[in-house]
Amino acid sequence: MRRILIATSNPGKLRDLAGAAAAHGVEVAPVPNFSSLPSVLEDGLTFEANARKKAEAYSRHVPGEIVVADDSGLEVDALHGAPGVHSARYAAPDLLNQQPHEAGANTDDDANNARVLRELEEVPREKRGGRFVCVLAAARNGKTLATFHGKAEGIILDAPRGANGFGYDPLFSFPQIEKTFAELTAEEKSRYSHRGAAFRQFLEWYDSMEA
Ligand code: IMP
Repeated sequence: MRRILIATSNPGKLRDLAGAAAAHGVEVAPVPNFSSLPSVLEDGLTFEANARKKAEAYSRHVPGEIVVADDSGLEVDALHGAPGVHSARYAAPDLLNQQPHEAGANTDDDANNARVLRELEEVPREKRGGRFVCVLAAARNGKTLATFHGKAEGIILDAPRGANGFGYDPLFSFPQIEKTFAELTAEEKSRYSHRGAAFRQFLEWYDSMEA
């Protein structure tokens, strides 16, 4: 089976990508020895800038191979788009941009969720719209070849629901099915999510590259 290298050790991201990959007859795997490679400082101002930076840096460690990196986050309308590119470390603002976290550092999903809930305390349901955004960058030998953008629109609940997924999944309700992303199977999440949407575009591009 064809294997696509992903520049992450985040099991939640890998699980989401694996769902879409399996439906397409490919498999995903982390870049070999990912956690021992020098980490990349995610100091870009946009998801795309960070995704490109990660894909380019990690692709240098596997010459000739296509490497895919994901940069993603939650944009809440009532918070003027926050947490946005700072989603992974929203509850630790003094650590923002100081340390990379793809290798697992500085992420505290419960604290991040608690901060979002606190900031939305006074906000009524009809004003709790937001979206997950994902940008995937595909790079080879240190150069970005293409980028892919996915979005999922939803509502931020006032309490967490569901035990699957990661990050803000338990707070993010997807109106079409009235479930949070943490109440979905991997297959369902990849069908509805920002990451699934971006990855399906990648897979089409990848097929056309190989043809
Ligand atoms: P990144 O590693 O800079 O892309 O950070 C992504 C952060 O955004 C994660 O740590 C989560 O907090 C949040 N996030 C991105 N995608 C998802 C998702 O699919 N579900 C829940 N949270 C997500």
